[in-house]
Amino acid sequence: MQNTDKEKKIAAKEAVQLIKDGMIIGIGTGSTVNYFIEELGKKVASGLKVKGVSSSTKSSDLARSYGIEIMDDFEGTMDIDVDGADQVDGNGNLIKGGGGALLREKIVAFNSRRVCIIVDREKMAGDRFGSFPLPVEVTPYFASGTIKHIEKLGSHCKLRQNGNFVTDNGNLIADCEFGKISDPCILEKKIKSIPGVVEVGLFVNMTSEIIVGSENSAKFIKL
Ligand code: A5P
Repeated sequence: MQNTDKEKKIAAKEAVQLIKDGMIIGIGTGSTVNYFIEELGKKVASGLKVKGVSSSTKSSDLARSYGIEIMDDFEGTMDIDVDGADQVDGNGNLIKGGGGALLREKIVAFNSRRVCIIVDREKMAGDRFGSFPLPVEVTPYFASGTIKHIEKLGSHCKLRQNGNFVTDNGNLIADCEFGKISDPCILEKKIKSIPGVVEVGLFVNMTSEIIVGSENSAKFIKL
């Protein structure tokens, strides 16, 4: 197992400790969350009673394979959302969408009382925030035109897999290189104001806590 995988697993195991009987859990997407689902599945097998709302068909399928009940819709507020991230800045803002699930991930996070982000150390980007290309979900209709407007904001964008990557919502992902992102709040608003943009992979002021896995332990950062 590579170091980053080990760190992801340690962070995921810590997050499972936060889950209590009767909770409704938001479940993110990605390789770190897969470890969380696996660990949560073990607890469910030994009697923990929880229900989940998942951010992707991949996570739903995996969770169900471990006997975790997944609801397709839920009117209330989830007790906790556990998700990964591609990069975290010094204020706990996130770049997400490397797995293409950013729209549902943002809906799940927005509807959760507590958002717990689990990452390996490499994801703590600090001043490098933005070196991971920012994923933006766009409608297939007029996608090239929409991208041109995102580029006018100072980026270079590429449609993921030349437009062959289709999200769970039937949309496309543009991966946009902005370089260093120092004001994610303003950038998120500017990109979201472009018609054709469905959602932006910038999660600003949404995180409650970050669990960073390291060699043998995990660090909690409360926000
Ligand atoms: C999914 O769309 C993403 O937002 C993931 O949460 C993010 O890419 C982290 O993925 P890994 O846990 O696989 O690094």
